Amino acid sequence: MSIDSPEDLAGLKAAGAVVAATLKECRRAVRAGITTADLDAVAGRVFARMGARSGPQLTYDFPGVICISVNDQVVHGVPGSRRLRDGDIVKVDVTAELNGYYSDACITVPVGRVKPASGRLAAASQAALLKGIDAARAGAPRNAIGAAVEAEVTKRGFHVIRELTGHGIGRGLHEKPDVLNWCDPLDDEPLTEGLVITIEPMISAGSTELEELEDGWTLVTQDGARSAHFEHTLVIRRDQPALVLTA
Ligand code: MF3
Ligand code: CO
Ligand code: CO
Repeated sequence: MSIDSPEDLAGLKAAGAVVAATLKECRRAVRAGITTADLDAVAGRVFARMGARSGPQLTYDFPGVICISVNDQVVHGVPGSRRLRDGDIVKVDVTAELNGYYSDACITVPVGRVKPASGRLAAASQAALLKGIDAARAGAPRNAIGAAVEAEVTKRGFHVIRELTGHGIGRGLHEKPDVLNWCDPLDDEPLTEGLVITIEPMISAGSTELEELEDGWTLVTQDGARSAHFEHTLVIRRDQPALVLTA
């Protein structure tokens, strides 16, 4: 959506605050020994307390409150009986709906002590997200975001998973336009003031080919390589950095 009233902005900010609070509590809860279902329950309690609902559940009938993807699992991991182990990296992807407004963000969290390579992988996704946010200004071509993201990821020796993208968001979870993590020369429409989008670099330390697990949701890297993912929801502005709603 594109924001065109103070009510829209207030509604989106409130939804973004739910996502930020949920990620904060989930990050605190991450430790070796808990199950991904335990982590999902943490998110469920925050949503209940704040009067929010799960975007994935509402929109796609997803079998969880949030998506929790471990190690080689890239996105859409289904919460369940898997226990987090020391050295894992876990992607906590939270989409909340509050009063008809949607907001979406993801963090990659280390479990205990992780190998340096996993730390670098997570740092690369986070740095690429910040570069993308900085490029996301009214008047700039849409593909400036992906160009900035992919340059950072490649510089750090990792690979963008091109088939997964950010997206418009606001009145629904997934809206137009797609927000690529690479530079498609044809995707050069100027960004407009007030447009609400996510930026979310999903990156791999190895193969960027994906496979779906038997659960019908979870996407993993074909070669078992680890992946990292950070995401924010933001509002495009003119002559100033985008307003991040999920910080
Ligand atoms: N949070 C995901 C995103 O960033 C959406 C997950 S919806 C699901 O776009 F149903 F596929 F889980
Ligand atoms: Co998300
Ligand atoms: Co998203």
